[in-house]
Amino acid sequence: MDQRLFAAASAAMERAYAPYSKFQVGAAILAADGQIYSGCNVENAAYPVGTCAEAGAIAAMVCDGRQQIREVVVIGRGDAMCTPCGGCRQRIREFATPETKIHVCGPEGLRRTFTRDELLPESFGPENLS
Ligand code: THU
Repeated sequence: MDQRLFAAASAAMERAYAPYSKFQVGAAILAADGQIYSGCNVENAAYPVGTCAEAGAIAAMVCDGRQQIREVVVIGRGDAMCTPCGGCRQRIREFATPETKIHVCGPEGLRRTFTRDELLPESFGPENLS
């Protein structure tokens, strides 16, 4: 795991706005050209409008002109692994290859690394529409 990515995700987690769940999440993406993009969860008093950390990081990447994910770090506190939710697995899927690594971390460091294909096997993607 790229330590710069871990640092970016950790910093994002600290800035997360999660007054309702009290569960802060940070995400960082290493784009194919080496650029790093981060995001945090941003909750809302209208609960369903809240957004995930991964969604924020992906939006920042796309807005900056990159569309290829090389590696992802997701970080959250607590004993359980902060694996990406179902929706975020699909969001990552759009811009990653089956082998792209997703590093699930806690504040202490790496807990487990998954490939995109492990998190979302037999997935639906852009190829289905071509
Ligand atoms: N959350 C994320 O930011 N990413 C995930 O993949 C899992 C869940 C956030 C959403 C919500 O603000 C909080 O964690 C609790 O579900």
